[in-house]
Amino acid sequence: MREFWERASCGEELYLNGRDRSGYERQARIRYELEPFIPGFARFNEARGKRALEIGVGLGADHQRFAEAGAILYGIDLTQRAVTVTEHRLSQFGLKSNLDVGDAESLRYPDSYFDVVYSWGVVHHSPDTPRAISEVWRVLKSGGVARIMIYHKHSMVGYMLWVRYALLRFHPTMTLAEIYARYLESPGTKAYSVEETRHLFQSFTRVEISTQLTHGDLLTSSAGQRHRGFALSAARLIWPRALIRRFFPGHGLFMLITATK
Ligand SMILES: C[S@@+](CC[C@H](N)C(=O)[O-])C[C@H]1O[C@@H](n2cnc3c(N)ncnc32)[C@H](O)[C@@H]1O
Repeated sequence: MREFWERASCGEELYLNGRDRSGYERQARIRYELEPFIPGFARFNEARGKRALEIGVGLGADHQRFAEAGAILYGIDLTQRAVTVTEHRLSQFGLKSNLDVGDAESLRYPDSYFDVVYSWGVVHHSPDTPRAISEVWRVLKSGGVARIMIYHKHSMVGYMLWVRYALLRFHPTMTLAEIYARYLESPGTKAYSVEETRHLFQSFTRVEISTQLTHGDLLTSSAGQRHRGFALSAARLIWPRALIRRFFPGHGLFMLITATK
């Protein structure tokens, strides 16, 4: 799994075409155009003056926002590649963070250390996701808030991949869990139902969960090129986006969790 992310950080090949300020700005602009709900969920500005940890910084766009907001900032990623690019990114903008290679499943911080823990699209890639969530709980102060995005099992992306790799290849018994593990991103990627997520976060005192339709569910971006081919191109042309928005708003790939310790 680490090898998968060492080859290229998330979005690096598609959206990062230069390692200077303008390259990073362009990548961030595309990121927030494709996923405009991130700032509203992450609430970067609320981290001002607070001790905040981001798990899985990737290319560091959100990390930069936390740094600009004035958080007392810490960040980890499983890969040196992501830590190096995020360090470089922050240095280009004169920003600071305590960045380290680290594993969500065994955080090197004391108990009750952070006011905020943020993680976007990371812990579902970790082999023992419940352990990563219990680490988030451990390092949060009482009353501290975790804002975490993981994948939602009952999503249009999952259904599309199932049609492509299970139905059309005559493996109709293949489960959605197998589909996510084999065809979405890093091998072993997981996705959860809302009920399973409630269970994962049961040690928190308050948990709010919502799902979000994404550019992947709506086929509005060039992401998903791994699955390119005639079927995907044809689907893009006829995809019933308005119907999906109206009748399946709860079938988005992203599950946004705000959990208070
Ligand atoms: C899909 S990318 C998301 C990166 C970034 N949060 C974003 O939204 O672009 C997943 C990232 O999580 C990191 N990662 C995966 N498992 C991890 C773990 N157990 N601990 C820390 N980072 C992890 C990967 O190295 C990769 O950079």
